[in-house]
Amino acid sequence: MVNRILRASVPTLAVLSLICLMTVPMGAITLRFGHSTAATDKSQNHIFAVKFAELAEEYSNGEIEIKIFPSNQLGSEQDRVQKIRLQSKVMTSVAISNLAPFAESAGVYSLPYLFSSTEDVFKLLNGPFAETIQERVSKEAGLRILGYLVTDFRVLTNSKKPICKISDLQGLKIRVTKNPLRLGTFKAWGATPIPMAWSEVFTALQQGVIDGQENPIITNYANNFQEVQKYITLIHYNHWIAPVLIGEQAYGKLSPTVQLALNRAVEDAALHERAWAREYTAKALQALKDAGMEVCVPEDEEVWRDSARSVWPQFYDLVGGKDLVDEALASLAE
Ligand code: MLT
Repeated sequence: MVNRILRASVPTLAVLSLICLMTVPMGAITLRFGHSTAATDKSQNHIFAVKFAELAEEYSNGEIEIKIFPSNQLGSEQDRVQKIRLQSKVMTSVAISNLAPFAESAGVYSLPYLFSSTEDVFKLLNGPFAETIQERVSKEAGLRILGYLVTDFRVLTNSKKPICKISDLQGLKIRVTKNPLRLGTFKAWGATPIPMAWSEVFTALQQGVIDGQENPIITNYANNFQEVQKYITLIHYNHWIAPVLIGEQAYGKLSPTVQLALNRAVEDAALHERAWAREYTAKALQALKDAGMEVCVPEDEEVWRDSARSVWPQFYDLVGGKDLVDEALASLAE
């Protein structure tokens, strides 16, 4: 009797497995996800990427496979944005100021001193303002934002001297993202800003081509900047936000169920990254101090703020127009 059941069920099972394989092919869609930091559990990009790959596979029943390419293997941040506009099987996360040269409206998030806290950031990202930005980025650059990684404010580091007031910045060569708004801000502060791709920053600091740079505490630690930088200045002019991007055309070619799985995976992995970053920033700061870095909280940050905000009008056209800036401010005031 048992044998009869077995004899009957073996072919039945084989047919069922075949049907299963045909309807849910394992790893049928392979997407390459590129990011900028090393593959370590110190990096917000990698923490996100690993969770995203796991959830994308789970939520799509194995249909989506995410291959992670850390350490700028798919090119610098701006190269990757360009790449995903042209290639269909690539995704990335980049700092918002590296998206802005391709989709100007995204630049609104980079206006210096737009946000006074991380809660402010979530107010915009979780509200209708984010939908406005999504629509505009789609039109301006053919890109879809599936979610946002969020860490903390970008802080200043340098190898020369403690910077505790704005006048200390005079003449220091500070690397900035290739974004005119960043250049304008650091010029207004009296520094000498040097636009440079993120992938080149560590070597440039090591060789003394530049004196300093600005990125969140976590990024500084994940990239071992304690080896080439001595001083940290805790400013709050800009918040690190990194959109997770895919090309609109590539996204449009996916089935609705796969789109849903991808959306859910990005959303949940971003929540995981944000919770991790909230905890990890203090640990990373302590590790930088233990490695010998000195921290200064500027006594005159309102002067930095007023000076940076004075450049806004020069850049309204570069960040989607004054109306968009007013919309952001109104959403923040709600
Ligand atoms: C940059 O400074 O270019 C970026 O903030 C690097 C990053 O995405 O971590």
